[in-house]
Amino acid sequence: MREQLSAALQTRALGKQCEVFDTLPSTQTRAAELALQGCAHGTVVYTREQTAGRGRAGRTWLSSAQSLCFSVVLREHIHPAEAFQWSFVAGLALRDVIGGDLKWPNDVLINRRKVAGILCTLELSPSPAVIVGIGLNLGFDPTHIDQSLRAAALSPADHAATLAALLLALERRSDRHPEHTLRDYRAHLALVGESVSVLTQTSKITGTLEGMSDTFELIVQHGGARHFIASADVWPLG
Ligand code: BTN
Repeated sequence: MREQLSAALQTRALGKQCEVFDTLPSTQTRAAELALQGCAHGTVVYTREQTAGRGRAGRTWLSSAQSLCFSVVLREHIHPAEAFQWSFVAGLALRDVIGGDLKWPNDVLINRRKVAGILCTLELSPSPAVIVGIGLNLGFDPTHIDQSLRAAALSPADHAATLAALLLALERRSDRHPEHTLRDYRAHLALVGESVSVLTQTSKITGTLEGMSDTFELIVQHGGARHFIASADVWPLG
């Protein structure tokens, strides 16, 4: 995997340092350890099998045999107060490679099914680092996935090629952030105009998804009012 990744890499920095495992509880946890040790910008942790994957909001992330799981440590242009924006950047990068739409805040949907999740975490020491963790789950349901995309998940060589493409897309998106992030994310935002259920930590709102604010909040129309939501899970109704 390491040699294949090196051969496929076209990035300036992302993936130049890479830890490769057959099995690991969580690439996100390992990448956080490396970040705390002051690892280089772009350091990647990849594992063939993840046994205790972490999802958003403290959830567990289950991977299939054909999942591509990795985390990358970003250290350039990190402003802790705006660190949440990297999950939108990562969503766009993922979409650049696999297509589909983006369900706010950062799920990639293909044919309206979630095929990938993104977890972004922040470490402040020894200097601010955002850890972008991506899980691309291609193996659960063969019916809704393009065959060429599924094929890319099956062999280590194809994993390397897909990982290299994702890292290049993320690096390009990082270089274009923040000018293009809002505009491009809005262009691919899923469920606009549709009825959705939005579950925040304190409430549940059902309404019409209107769009995304200039500060990346979800805008939902409900009862004649516009609600601006900073953190939530969103589901389509119907
Ligand atoms: C979500 O809840 O949708 C986000 C899932 C993120 C999963 C990825 S897999 C690679 C990295 N390592 C983890 O433990 N989690 C992220």
